[in-house]
Amino acid sequence: MEKKTVLTGITTTGTPHIGNYLGAIKPAIDLSHGDTYNNFYFLADYHALIKCHDPERVAQSTREIAATWLALGLDTDRATFYRQTDVPEITELTWILTCMCSKGLMNRAHAYKASVDANRDAGNADLDDGVTMGLFSYPILMAADILMFNADLIPVGKDQIQHIEMARDVAGRFNHTYRPLFTQPEAVVDEQTQLIPGLDGRKMSKSYNNTIPLFSSADELYKLIKQIKTDTRTPGEPKDPDNSTIFQLYSCFANEQERLAMRQQFENGIGWGDAKKELFEFLDSKLSAPRVLYNELMNDLGSVEEVLLKGAEKARGVAAPMMEQVRIAAGIRPLTYVAEAKPEEKQKKEKSADAIARAEEGRRRGILMQLKPLLAQVEAADDKASVAQTIVAEKIAEVEGLKKKAKQKAQNELDILQEELATYL
Ligand code: TRP
Repeated sequence: MEKKTVLTGITTTGTPHIGNYLGAIKPAIDLSHGDTYNNFYFLADYHALIKCHDPERVAQSTREIAATWLALGLDTDRATFYRQTDVPEITELTWILTCMCSKGLMNRAHAYKASVDANRDAGNADLDDGVTMGLFSYPILMAADILMFNADLIPVGKDQIQHIEMARDVAGRFNHTYRPLFTQPEAVVDEQTQLIPGLDGRKMSKSYNNTIPLFSSADELYKLIKQIKTDTRTPGEPKDPDNSTIFQLYSCFANEQERLAMRQQFENGIGWGDAKKELFEFLDSKLSAPRVLYNELMNDLGSVEEVLLKGAEKARGVAAPMMEQVRIAAGIRPLTYVAEAKPEEKQKKEKSADAIARAEEGRRRGILMQLKPLLAQVEAADDKASVAQTIVAEKIAEVEGLKKKAKQKAQNELDILQEELATYL
């Protein structure tokens, strides 16, 4: 069976945090270590331009996210790891898909609707205030990311499910209008990884400003962990691990045994300060080795750039021929382009060539029947050659004296006579 393709991208607008790591990067890297899937992972820097117009931030985030994937052990020989903007075919496909996408579908996109709602709530007469065309049609760019590589499975957060549905919709429209070139992708949402809490207990997210950067220094990490919200229970009082951000973050990195031991400590009344210290030491022990590697990579960006360019080459190896097919399907072709027969058409042609041969054979047999007496004369004669030559000469004279249709008939007879009697002529 052919391997399925897993594809996902991360928008390059922020510094990777523990939520990104547990929710997206770690599961993607784990998947790439098996041999079950083809993996395409990329830095969605075209997407970054939709929401961030600070060039330094986009550039820095791109460095950080690239170095993060590599520091965490992504095997770039197995997975195709690239920067979206290094694959120009993606924007090319975006346009063709834009022409396959109804505006109404985009009107329903959550991100766009949220902006419209915010304008309405603020009493703004222009409901589209602050909405760029990039934001409006962002799901089409995302569809191009996915459809370009015929990806089957797209690991994403819940907020992205709608975009995958839209990619399916656009793929369907293209396939129906032109040719079935695109695979229908499926969103894969891991409920478990949706629950990573941030410093304030809400889901860890850039937009809540409650994140713990994955590779902050040990000091910073401890400082942030000390900010985690706790209740007023004093040391010695039993605490509820299931309602504690400290315990939940600990659990995300822990094995079963470690989790049970920490649970026990909560029930035994560990003080919040001590719990935070334990969490810090535990996270630091898990993150210190990749942090060293991360810092090395951030000091050797040339090597990271090289890895990305190699990945782009691999990605374009797939994207360019795909784009070629897409263009041709849509009618964007060299002037001299002649369609190659589709397999079923070829079959039809082959059949008709066969049929022509059979018909030709039948026609020949019919003429031969009529010529039988003449051929018999030759066979019976002593001087076969002279009889044959006389017969053919008479036929030639006959052909010359006839007109059109009759002439053609006689000519056919002559051809066959000449073939049959070739040895005597
Ligand atoms: N829009 C996604 C996000 O903000 C990132 C993204 C861009 C993506 N293109 C993609 C994710 C294609 C999966 C597949 O999280």
